[in-house]
Amino acid sequence: TPAQSNEDFRPQFHFTPKSGWMNDPNGMFYLDGTYHLFFQHNPDDNVWGPMHWGHATSKDLIVWEEQPIALEPDEHGTIFSGSAVVDHQNTSGLGDGNTPPVIAIFTYHDAEREQEGANDFQTQGIAYSTDAGKTWTKYENNPVLGNPGIRDFRDPKVVWYEEGNKWIMSLAVQDHIKFYSSSNLLDWEHLSDFGKNSGNHGGVWECPDLFKMQVGDTGEERWVLLVSINPGGPNGGSATQYFVGDFDGTTFTLDESVEDIGEEHDYWVDFGKDNYAGVTWSNIPQEDGRHIFMGWMSNWQYANEVPTETWRSAMTIARTLDLKKTAATYRITSSPVKELENYKTDGITKQNIQIEAETEIIKNGEISLSPSVVEVNISNFKEQDYIFQLKNDAGNVLEFGYDAGEAAYYIDRSQSGITDFNEDFASKRSLAPRLSQEQDLRFTAIIDNMSIEIFFDDGNTVMTEIFFPNKPFQTLSAKSHETFKIENFEAHQLNF
Ligand code: FRU
Repeated sequence: TPAQSNEDFRPQFHFTPKSGWMNDPNGMFYLDGTYHLFFQHNPDDNVWGPMHWGHATSKDLIVWEEQPIALEPDEHGTIFSGSAVVDHQNTSGLGDGNTPPVIAIFTYHDAEREQEGANDFQTQGIAYSTDAGKTWTKYENNPVLGNPGIRDFRDPKVVWYEEGNKWIMSLAVQDHIKFYSSSNLLDWEHLSDFGKNSGNHGGVWECPDLFKMQVGDTGEERWVLLVSINPGGPNGGSATQYFVGDFDGTTFTLDESVEDIGEEHDYWVDFGKDNYAGVTWSNIPQEDGRHIFMGWMSNWQYANEVPTETWRSAMTIARTLDLKKTAATYRITSSPVKELENYKTDGITKQNIQIEAETEIIKNGEISLSPSVVEVNISNFKEQDYIFQLKNDAGNVLEFGYDAGEAAYYIDRSQSGITDFNEDFASKRSLAPRLSQEQDLRFTAIIDNMSIEIFFDDGNTVMTEIFFPNKPFQTLSAKSHETFKIENFEAHQLNF
């Protein structure tokens, strides 16, 4: 059988650009029933290059429609990552008096100045839209925040700080985050720095996001700071760490329970290799109240080399982030947005499946696995191996589960198909700690043509990875060196 290539790998529903290169999600906001997603885009090549902001819209965060390119490079540089806000009170004065303007805040990257050897080649600029995000005009006095001479100075994420009636910008600056404030999105004042002595420092800090969260339903509130780091992720390359603490309008202070974090800091939004540069949507209505997150489903170790040709990279599914308090600390949990439920069709439901030798749970032809949602519930978690395998009759295996020897969840894509394009792609299985103390081992796996997103223990531990099989996966089986029982099993094909 001829191997799959290019279009065969294109996900059924995860967002991908029709053609060209994509990396980080940018400028996500909601307005008037539409979710907007912008993205780092090189429309002219299948590798990273002069960055534009591509654009896509969705009514439900699941089905995306690509729109014309929103922002193109100009005399100040190419358009790196950033955010967008709806300026309800027209604090910027950039509105037309009819609708609130939408303001995009992004990094200009001046490659010529970089080549000249200057350090100040990244500055922050803005663009505005008076038609709810459809078309954009660059602000005439860009940049709005100049560079003091620091090489990595980028990825502004702006939020409205209600308590102080002002905008707050988080900016990634090499090995820390700088916070700025503004009353009008045009003039920015430096407030404070965070992070030189906190968290992981195996690479450069990128794409921050600062927001306030409710702690479960306790009524308590905490501020959360997401920071992507590359390299230095828990399984190599790119990943997104987070911090829980307080923000008083000037300074972010880490909570005592997470104060002892160092290089061993295990606060990761996702432990898999393919979820990077993710941030949350702005302007989600209060009555909705969700923190909706999306990441780039790749890793800088091999993103430019994955075996697609006319397009490259997909986004994760949109996820709801929640914050919970454990005995020791605070943890973010993730779950696929509830809108996915609307696409579940033909299903398999099974109870009390006894796993001794290898047991095929989904047989060839029973349902189509790409795309599908698989939900597993095992009571009475024990320190033993729980092994799950997606297989096809081309001999490919994508394995995941719990490894008692490592005391960790894992994904092993070493036999999953095309892996030889980069030695970092499949050389090691990825590991993730089991953070839940619960008796049940539960997981939800979302499978698409080239990806699996596993939400272990109600999203306490998440792993996302991509793969390139020679044929679509056809079966799902389970095994162990001991025995175990799956109390509840459900799998649903997703139809779009
Ligand atoms: C993260 C990143 C950002 C930068 C963008 C450039 O993946 O390196 O820091 O703005 O990509 O495309």
